[in-house]
Amino acid sequence: MIVREVSRVPDRFPKPDDHPYRTGAWQPQFVEYDADECDVVEGELPADLDGVYLRNTENPVLPAIGRYHPFDGDGMLHAIRFANGRASYRNRFIRTAGLAAELEAGAPLWAGIVESPAKSLRDGWGARGRMKDASSTDVVVHAGRALTTFYQCGDVYQTDPVTLAPHGAAPWGQTKMGVSAHPKLDPATGELLYFGYGTEAPYMTFGVLDAAGHPIHQQPVPLPGPRLPHDMAFTEHYAILNDMPLFWDPDMLAKGVHRPRWHPEMPTRFAIVPRRGGEVRWFEASATYVLHWINAYEEGDEIVLDGYHQADPLPRPDPADGQYAGIKRMLDIYAMVAKPHRWRFNLRTGQTREERLYEDISEFPSIHYAKPGRKHRYVWSMTAPRGWFLFDGLVRYDLETGAEQRFKYPEGVYASEAPMAPRPGGTAEDDGWIVTFVSDVARDRSECHVFDAARISDGPIARVALPARMSSGTHACWAPGTALRPD
Ligand SMILES: [Fe+2]
Repeated sequence: MIVREVSRVPDRFPKPDDHPYRTGAWQPQFVEYDADECDVVEGELPADLDGVYLRNTENPVLPAIGRYHPFDGDGMLHAIRFANGRASYRNRFIRTAGLAAELEAGAPLWAGIVESPAKSLRDGWGARGRMKDASSTDVVVHAGRALTTFYQCGDVYQTDPVTLAPHGAAPWGQTKMGVSAHPKLDPATGELLYFGYGTEAPYMTFGVLDAAGHPIHQQPVPLPGPRLPHDMAFTEHYAILNDMPLFWDPDMLAKGVHRPRWHPEMPTRFAIVPRRGGEVRWFEASATYVLHWINAYEEGDEIVLDGYHQADPLPRPDPADGQYAGIKRMLDIYAMVAKPHRWRFNLRTGQTREERLYEDISEFPSIHYAKPGRKHRYVWSMTAPRGWFLFDGLVRYDLETGAEQRFKYPEGVYASEAPMAPRPGGTAEDDGWIVTFVSDVARDRSECHVFDAARISDGPIARVALPARMSSGTHACWAPGTALRPD
């Protein structure tokens, strides 16, 4: 492996640091590297694996104002480019306006998600306001650019997906509400669908960009009040947005306090919006909160939506976790009881039907690159250890047969969200690979692992060494070589 250190940010945290999401698998990465000819330490890279795997991670550069939540951390992209049986890797901080302002000030300027916005020293971004847009939550490649976004809305930062050269904030995203994490690429049309939300009427917007990255549609999707949606889905003709009964308590919000409250007596509502605009149709379902949708598609008179139904969306901290009890419970996928679930919206009758797909707990789903908006058979998801926002393995669901495959890492070894990279020219929905970054905390190293998507329980078919251990993070994506354009 040929490694070049590009830059190094001084570590500014007092030691020892005992924050559970700033140590261990979440220890921030402060060095940017270029690495070529990465060593394949086991197995062999498929010669036709062609594309880039990108992961966004949270790496706080400056100490927090008050309490720290990992979603406050500054975004860093990690990219591994595969071609001709070889791999090269880079990692770069996302050059956000907020990080630049804090580096210039030499001090933190914004309080994070679990602190009062009154503690922030400046106005900022986010549906809540007065937060730093760390652009650290999500990443998708559209119109030749990696687009990073922030979970609670902000700008859309553009980065070259291979060189990781920064290209600033996208003008189309610089609206009052901003853009939420999880803009969705439709590989069939090349369009990007996105949404934003905030505390002022109409509370939610929906928009579409064409394959070249030009805005072609935007419309309000009015809600009864401020809500906390996280993800959206779409079919060939419709976008699916949501109004879930977990939102800031309106009375507290009027006093400037942002306290999420669960309303189990209220329905979950789904907005079916024609992709090119038109009347919004609402469907009701049982109360839940959904962090991530798996996919949606049209089938006869119905829209089928798969996602992760939560049984217990509000944190109930375990006192044994001491001062970090709240944060640990808030980020525990196990405690959310997130299970694969299906909703069917009948466009003729207006009725909703629901069914449980699996009783397993998993989250952070992936499907075949070409399947978003179209009927899918396979889902690859991440499994989580109890008590931590980490991924300890993978599960593959075959929705046609009900079969499951699993792969679990040893304790202290954690993977990242693992998208499916189709084999170029392949026709089967599971003909391709699953790609993930893996960190081994005890050995203090990270690798990239490639699995045969049809046989994940066999373990990785190739392990690629990386220059340094990366922090854990949130979302990742795959972009095939055909979606990459020279910078
Ligand atoms: Fe997400």
